[in-house]
Amino acid sequence: MKFYNERILPHLIDKVCSLGQVMKLRRQVVPQAQGIVLEIGMGSGINLALYNPAAVSLVYGLEPSAGMRRKAGKNLGQSPVPVEWLDLPGEQIPLADASVDTVLVTFTLCTIADSQAALAQMLRVLKPGGHLLFLEHGLSPEPSVSVWQHRITPGWKKIAGGCHLNRDIAQLITDAGFAIETIDNFYIPAAPRIAGHIYQGKAVKPT
Ligand SMILES: C[S@@+](CC[C@H](N)C(=O)[O-])C[C@H]1O[C@@H](n2cnc3c(N)ncnc32)[C@H](O)[C@@H]1O
Repeated sequence: MKFYNERILPHLIDKVCSLGQVMKLRRQVVPQAQGIVLEIGMGSGINLALYNPAAVSLVYGLEPSAGMRRKAGKNLGQSPVPVEWLDLPGEQIPLADASVDTVLVTFTLCTIADSQAALAQMLRVLKPGGHLLFLEHGLSPEPSVSVWQHRITPGWKKIAGGCHLNRDIAQLITDAGFAIETIDNFYIPAAPRIAGHIYQGKAVKPT
């Protein structure tokens, strides 16, 4: 499983996460980042090209998987913004309290083992008034879809690097103490509904 997770999965994730419809959504979210940014689960660095270099001074790219960091080499080499790797999980963010302006999380809250602990860390390092930008997939409100999300998640997690299909992302963000300012929920048109129910938006750390 280690060989699969470190050598094969990074290529599969990179391919799926850079499909055209997903890139279209990323382009709506990533350019909103500003100042010092913490990207959680930076993966293969697909978002890097989409940061606005006039607005972003530094991106901390937190990514615990050596395989994903290796896969990010090309995107890192072409990044329009400076990047500093943090090779730790989101549950252990090694940054000072209230030290970043924006936290970006895309297709990662589904995967972090202790998502609530990681969100508490994101809240801690964000400056009051700073934003959490999110683009995630998760629990569908339709029982005919969610029943399958609950059934399939235990097996899916094993082949998809720990990804849960059935997390209520808005609830997780709210429970952590963020205030959601904007949120859109919809299905990615060509994706299977169990994996394609999107939560896209912006939450603030209350002042
Ligand atoms: C589906 S990939 C998404 C990668 C990237 N965010 C993107 O949008 O393309 C999920 C990422 O979460 C990372 N990850 C897994 N556990 C994590 C944790 N505890 N903290 C932070 N990232 C984690 C994985 O290594 C992987 O890079």
